[in-house]
Amino acid sequence: MDDPTTLTNKIAWETASQKHVREYDDLLAQAATGDSLIDIERDLLRDVLAHAPEVIHLQSGHGLDDPALVYAGARSVVGVDYSEVAVDAAQRRADELGVACRYIAATVPQHVPLPDASADLVYTGKGALIWMPDLDAWANEVVRLLRPAGHLFVYEAHPAVPLWTWDTDQPRIRPDRSYFATSHVNDTFPGNGAVEWQWNLGQIITAVVAAGMEVLHVGEYAEPFWRAGGVSAAAWDGRLPNSFSLLARRRASPPRLSTSTHLT
Ligand SMILES: C[S@@+](CC[C@H](N)C(=O)[O-])C[C@H]1O[C@@H](n2cnc3c(N)ncnc32)[C@H](O)[C@@H]1O
Repeated sequence: MDDPTTLTNKIAWETASQKHVREYDDLLAQAATGDSLIDIERDLLRDVLAHAPEVIHLQSGHGLDDPALVYAGARSVVGVDYSEVAVDAAQRRADELGVACRYIAATVPQHVPLPDASADLVYTGKGALIWMPDLDAWANEVVRLLRPAGHLFVYEAHPAVPLWTWDTDQPRIRPDRSYFATSHVNDTFPGNGAVEWQWNLGQIITAVVAAGMEVLHVGEYAEPFWRAGGVSAAAWDGRLPNSFSLLARRRASPPRLSTSTHLT
C-alpha cells in the first residue's frame, strides 16, 4: 500500500499533467529539437552515451529529455511515471517522432515493472527526488534496475532551494524553512499545496553509496534547473546553489548496506 502523501501527490500530478496534453504541439516541437538536455548533462553523460546505453528514465514527466537522450546516443529509453496522462502524452510524442522511447505508468520505486539489471543508465531529476518519501528504497531500486557498472545520473534542484525566497531585490532565507527539515508544503506555483520531501546532499550521496554505487561526480550550480515564468528571484543571481548533478556507477557486487549501518 502506498503512503498517503504519495497517493495525494499522484492525484495532483494526474491533474497537473493535463498541461502536457494542452501544450502537446509546443512540447512536440520542443522534443523534436532534442534541446532539453543542458550542457552540464551532455558533458557528464558524453562517455556513457557514447556506448549506446539502454536508459530507464524514472519519473519521466513530459518526457522531453527522452528523445534528446536518443538523439545524443541512447539506444532506447523507457520512461516510468505514475501519471497515466503524462505517460500517454509522452508516448504519443515519441511515436510521432519515431524515436525508441516507450512509457510505463507505475509508481517509483515500489512498483516499477521492469526486470533486474535491464538498464545501462538510470536517468532522473528536474523535480523528481522531492516526491520520494524513502530515499533508500529509491536508491535500492536504481541499483536493482542497473546492470553491473551501469550509471545513475541525477540533475536536480539543489536541496537548499526550499530555503530561498523569490524576492527580487536581494536573496533571503525563508524563516519558516530549514535545510534539515524532512518535508515542507509547497506554496508557490506549480506545486502549490503539495507535500515535498527534503533530502539534503549528504543524505542523497549516502543513500546512493549505501545501495551499492560509487560516486564519480557531484556538481553544484547557481542556475536553477527551471525558472518559474515571470519570476526573477535574486536567489538566482549566481551566488547561491540552485541545482546539482550526480553521476554514480553500480558496483559489481552491491553491498546493500542500510544508510544507518553505513553511518555508524
Ligand atoms: C516535476 S516532474 C519532472 C519530471 C521530468 N524529469 C521532467 O523533466 O518532466 C515530476 C514527475 O514525477 C512524477 N512522479 C512523482 N512521484 C512519482 C512516483 N512516486 N512514481 C512515479 N512518478 C512520480 C510526476 O507524475 C511528474 O511527472
